Amino acid sequence: MDIEGETAFITGGASGIGLALARRCAALGATVLLADIEEAALDRAAADLRRAGATVKTYRLDVSDRKNYEDVATRVLDAFGPPHLLFNNAGVAWKGPASQALPDDWEWIVKVNVLGLGYGVALFVPKMIQAGRGGYVVNTGSITGLITAVGAAAVYGMTKHAVVAISEALAHELRPHGLHVAVVCPGQVATNIGNADRNLISGVSREGLSSALPGEREFTNQSIAQGLSPDDVAARVFEALEQKRTYVVTHPEYKDEVILRHRQIENAITGRPETDVQLLAMAKAMFALSPLT
Ligand SMILES: NC(=O)c1ccc[n+]([C@@H]2O[C@H](COP(=O)([O-])OP(=O)(O)OC[C@H]3O[C@@H](n4cnc5c(N)ncnc54)[C@H](O)[C@@H]3O)[C@@H](O)[C@H]2O)c1
Repeated sequence: MDIEGETAFITGGASGIGLALARRCAALGATVLLADIEEAALDRAAADLRRAGATVKTYRLDVSDRKNYEDVATRVLDAFGPPHLLFNNAGVAWKGPASQALPDDWEWIVKVNVLGLGYGVALFVPKMIQAGRGGYVVNTGSITGLITAVGAAAVYGMTKHAVVAISEALAHELRPHGLHVAVVCPGQVATNIGNADRNLISGVSREGLSSALPGEREFTNQSIAQGLSPDDVAARVFEALEQKRTYVVTHPEYKDEVILRHRQIENAITGRPETDVQLLAMAKAMFALSPLT
């Protein structure tokens, strides 16, 4: 894939999947515009990338803060023009059933995962269209955007369904403009997402979030640590971009759950009996083992 000399704007670029995407872009000769809420991590990430020979510019950005995003987008557009690759990747997760989520849980997760992505699209995509040079919009969803995250990650899963839905619509809308849209739907990846509450947004407090059950964070972090490496995910993303694929599904082991969910909907359309209990049982079993993804 030829992106030498192009620019890549990556939100949540200081850690995990975003940082791996940055490494990949840099290795292909692109200038990396790294945006993240966590300033110290951003500086460390930029230093690592520069040591490997990359051209990097950093932006302290809370994607859920519209004013902050507008300022950053203006600075990016003034200095570099529209990015050729836009990675709407920043995301947070908090474990807990939907029925027990507190207002701060909803506000934090929805603002970052949904609104933050929306601001990225609104501020950059029209400029990318106007530039008429084609390019890529890559949204980080999750396998929970393709199945139902019963029990453990329901609110998070809701936001990832939103990411998948908007990516499908954008893929259709942007194709005539030569812009390819992909949505990344991983299962567990070994990143820092298990400690996402290290970066809360304004208006949301730790006390306002529903508290994890004893031992839950350790369990989640252990399970995440055994996940795919972020660099493997980034490699799969670039393969998909080369092949102009929309869905990047990195964990084939969730195939049955995806099929079951679709069959369930098909049954509702055709009037066949539903297999609700079975569906829930499978989803529950799966999320007992993978609470956050
Ligand atoms: N790790 C997994 O198992 C997994 C699985 C599926 C999907 N995902 C998704 O991958 C994406 C990246 O997460 P990750 O796993 O690399 O986690 P991570 O915590 O390692 O990286 C997320 C980055 O986003 C930044 N961030 C958090 N809130 C922000 C905000 N308001 N504004 C800007 N930046 C913010 C963090 O500082 C961090 O650098 C997320 O969208 C996540 O939902 C992760």
